[in-house]
Parts: sequence; C-alpha cells; structure tokens
Amino acid sequence: MFRTCFMLIGLIALFSCCVKQELKTCTSDSSLAGQADFPIGAAADPLLFSSDSIYRHLFFSQFSSATAENSFKPAYLHPEENTYQWNEADEFVSQCRSHQMRVHGHTLIWHQQNPQWMNAFAGSSEQWEQMMKSHIVSIVRYFRPTVLSWDVVNEAFNEDGSLRNTIWLQHVGSSYIEKAFMFARQASPEAKLFYNDYGLETNPAKRKAVLAFLNHLRLKGVPIDGIGLQMHIDIKYADASMIEEAIYEVAQNGYDVHLSEVDISLNPRGKDYLLNAKDLQAQAELMHKIVRAYRNIPLHQQFGITFWGISDRYSWIRTTYNRSDYPLLFDDQYQPKPIYCQLKQAL
Ligand code: G3I
Repeated sequence: MFRTCFMLIGLIALFSCCVKQELKTCTSDSSLAGQADFPIGAAADPLLFSSDSIYRHLFFSQFSSATAENSFKPAYLHPEENTYQWNEADEFVSQCRSHQMRVHGHTLIWHQQNPQWMNAFAGSSEQWEQMMKSHIVSIVRYFRPTVLSWDVVNEAFNEDGSLRNTIWLQHVGSSYIEKAFMFARQASPEAKLFYNDYGLETNPAKRKAVLAFLNHLRLKGVPIDGIGLQMHIDIKYADASMIEEAIYEVAQNGYDVHLSEVDISLNPRGKDYLLNAKDLQAQAELMHKIVRAYRNIPLHQQFGITFWGISDRYSWIRTTYNRSDYPLLFDDQYQPKPIYCQLKQAL
C-alpha cells in the first residue's frame, strides 16, 4: 500500500517537473504593438524587405516603432563630404510610415560606421566643428518632420566612465557632445534627442559617470531629452535587479527611457552551444522582469522598447562574433519563442 503511494507521489513529482520545464508557447497572431501602452520597436534591414517576405510581414505587423539597423548611419547617409545618399533611408521611412510606424533615427555621431572622408577629415578644430554641424543639421532637417527622435550621440563613454577617444573628442574637444545636441535642436525644435549607449544597464560606474556628465550639460540648457539603454545583455551575467535599478535611476534623473537595442544572448562566452529549454526559459523570465520594471516608470518617460532585430536568423551577434546564438523574439523559422510569449504577457 505505502509502496504504491510513494510510487504515485514520485510519478506526480516527475510529471510536474516536466510540465514546469515545458515551455509556455503562444502564437504571433496578434501584435506586440497592440498589447503595449508604449512603442514596441525593432531594428530592421530594409534590404531584407524585398528578399524575405516573412521578415517583412513580422516587422510591419508586430511593431509600432522602427529603427534602421544601419541605413541612418553616417557611412550610409553621408558617403562623401559633399554628397548625401538618401534613397535607402527614404525607402525605409516610406514603408514604415505607410504602416503607421514611428521612425527613430540611429545615429548621427558615433565612432563606428563613419565614411572614410570623415575619419580622414583634415581641418582645424573650428572646421571639424563646422563639419559636424553641417552633417547633423543636414540630416535632421532632411528627415523633418517625419523622424521625430534621434540618437544624437552614440557610445561616447568607456566602461570606466571616461570619454571614449573618438575622432570627435580628438578634433572638436570634449564639448562635442553638447554641441551635437545643440545642432540637432537647431535643426529640429520638436524632435526628442537621445544619448545612446551600451552597458549602462549592467555597469553602475559607467551609468553614474554618464548621468553626471549629461545632467551637467542639461543644467547648462543642453537639450537632452532621453537616454537609450541599448540592453545588449545575456542570461549568464545580466542580473534583473541591476537592470531594474538602471531603468529606475535613468527615469528618476528625468530622462525619457528607451530600451533601444534589446537582445538577450544565450551564449555570451561563445563556446560550442546547444540550444536548450532551460536557457530559453531563463531568457523569457528575464524579459518578463525587464518589462515589469519598465512599466513601473512614469508612462510619459516610456519612450519604448526596441529589439535589435526580429529573428535570431539575422542577429548581428551571430555575424559579429561568429557564434551560435539565439538572442531575439523569433527563431530561425520565424516561430515565436518563449521570450516573445513572456514579453506579450508582461505588456
Ligand atoms: O553592407 C556591407 C556589405 O556590402 C558587405 O558585403 C558586408 C561584408 O563586409 O558588410 C556589410 O556591412 C556590414 C553592415 O553591418 C551591414 O550588414 C558591416 O560589415 C558590419 O560591420 C555592420 O555591422 C553593424 C554594426 O552595428 C557595426 O558596428 C550591425 O549590422 C549592426 O547591428 C550593429 O549595430 C550596433 C548599433 O548601431 C550600435 N550599438 C551596437 C550595435 C551592435 O554592434
């Protein structure tokens, strides 16, 4: 009698354990945008719109905010000193607008993906400043009034909170950040202007240094409306409470908060990796906690959550680090992953 009971209890425990491990599934029949009370976005490569119909369909049906993964960067928009190239970005904007999507401009001033002429520009500090002004004003004015938010400066700080030694710091000086925001505001009185960076959510020293620097500029009247926390995180090192603290701290400093480039790596160490249910569940649960925290900040400061891609298939992580990884909402076959389901549930 007792033996049968123990066996029964064992079977129930085994079953419940499997059920617990069984991942929650859902469909992508309804949109993320329809579920959220703030913009839900994704970065996209417009070149894929014509070659991958499912990619295109998911991008335009699931999201309400759009960031061009590369098309708005200096190397693409401003390939020669006296030449601007608008067609790829124009196509991106046109398609997004026809699907009633917000377009966020990424990015005006950065140390990567600059055209060769810009990196090699030979001039005095004043000439560099004039070049930077002309670059910013020309682009922001061109996209007015369609593009109403910009990553004005991207990744200007090192991990220790010091200023990154970029061509802008070298040739314009440490005032380049405030000047970039002033030029952007001059070009668009109505746009929301962001500082965007990675690691702010997981490196308190960097975050505190960035906040101190930007708060000082804002006190001087520099128009900095928001901060983009890129959120290139992972399930191994990222800690939900640390991320929550970062979101709250940026909001408490009065900035709009954009979770601007969200992906959650399952294989940050880049080892041989086999996708498994436990990691997918951890990714989903971390996403759930992040959204709950984000929804706790004032609604008017919730600029939005933007994923850095749609499907694992095209993630920058795979190509950049040449490793298997599964950081996004949809799998290689465009099926919604547990992270998608948990995101939707948390919205
Ligand atoms: O377009 C060329 C193509 O013609 C060429 O054949 C191919 C091979 O060389 O390269 C293509 O350009 C690549 C470009 O992405 C478009 O696919 C560049 O090599 C590659 O470096 C570039 O990577 C981008 C990366 O920024 C550059 O640093 C990624 O797509 C993009 O996702 C990534 O995004 C950045 C954000 O802008 C800022 N925050 C970090 C984030 C990840 O690095």
